[in-house]
Amino acid sequence: MLQSDGRRSADTHLLHAEFPGLKGIAIYLKDESTHPTGSLKHRLARSLFIYAICNGKVGRGKTVVEASSGSTAVSEAYFARLLGLPFIAVMAKNTSPQKIASIEYYGGRCHLVARADEIYEAASAVARETNGYYLDQFTYAERATDWRGNNNIAESIFEQMSAEPYSIPTWIIMGAGTGGTAATLGRFVRYRGFRTKLCIADVEHSAFYEAFRTGNKETRCSEPSRIEGVGRPRVEPSFIPSVIDRMVKIPDAASIAAMRIISRRLSRPVGGSTGTNFFAACWIASEMIERGESGALATLICDSGDRYRNTYYCDNWLRDNKIDISPYVASIEEFLDSGNAGGLFDLESTSL
Ligand SMILES: Cc1ncc(COP(=O)(O)O)c(C=O)c1O
Repeated sequence: MLQSDGRRSADTHLLHAEFPGLKGIAIYLKDESTHPTGSLKHRLARSLFIYAICNGKVGRGKTVVEASSGSTAVSEAYFARLLGLPFIAVMAKNTSPQKIASIEYYGGRCHLVARADEIYEAASAVARETNGYYLDQFTYAERATDWRGNNNIAESIFEQMSAEPYSIPTWIIMGAGTGGTAATLGRFVRYRGFRTKLCIADVEHSAFYEAFRTGNKETRCSEPSRIEGVGRPRVEPSFIPSVIDRMVKIPDAASIAAMRIISRRLSRPVGGSTGTNFFAACWIASEMIERGESGALATLICDSGDRYRNTYYCDNWLRDNKIDISPYVASIEEFLDSGNAGGLFDLESTSL
């Protein structure tokens, strides 16, 4: 059933965005929002189910449980319904109501806990109590995907770019939630011997950047991430620093400003983590321009902005959360139109 569903599916578009100020730099965004369940997690959910079934962990009638910030659970609820399996999503209570509604639409049940760092224990407990199976994306994302190929996201990007003026991207830029997409991208680049470098953009409240900088995998972040899908309280097992060339730390206000700008310029609403990706791509573009380099950058539209109408797109929500995006909006617009970055990218960055 999973294979038939896969055969009925199409690949996602690789959009080429043009900006007058970025001469010689081509920016591509792979639009993962167009999957049936609205995010890049559609790929992961399919892989996790195949991995669990092929490992003999999930069979007829088995309850399937997941810890999620929402997007993965939406996609898993879709596949659980396809397979006729009961599904329980364990998520923090501040998960967007649109994601909760989507999970319930596919027949999944939501088990909400107070804080993001409680989801792991709670998911294990729910799986024990229901004699179910905890899919555990944060552990298995990096290995459930066929990183060598099988039309994974990396292979698809390189294939779709093959007839472009710069057919091999100089950098690929991505955020990290599980770190699974980063692992697939980084491993594929090495496996195929491309000179492409991988930049991972972390958000304000997250353990990944500090762990990359110091090498300490025990790093914790006590405040929950405000950019849904990316940024974690702990360094997830699927986060593989050795395949990452560089990390940048993006302020939440910059992610949300960039999200709104790229939504306007592409005429399609994108989510907050796409803003994080796009801001980091602009940062790398500015450095290439400064050095007189040209080339291509590839990143992802992780999900659609429709899920965040009442948060990132709502000025009252920004005010309530004390996030002022206005200085970033003006500076990003100026950069995209003129190539002049000013001090916009005077932020934290670490290279291996
Ligand atoms: C909207 C969104 N963007 C980005 C990511 C990060 O992807 P990954 O888990 O592969 O690191 C996620 C993961 O949940 C997500 O939901």
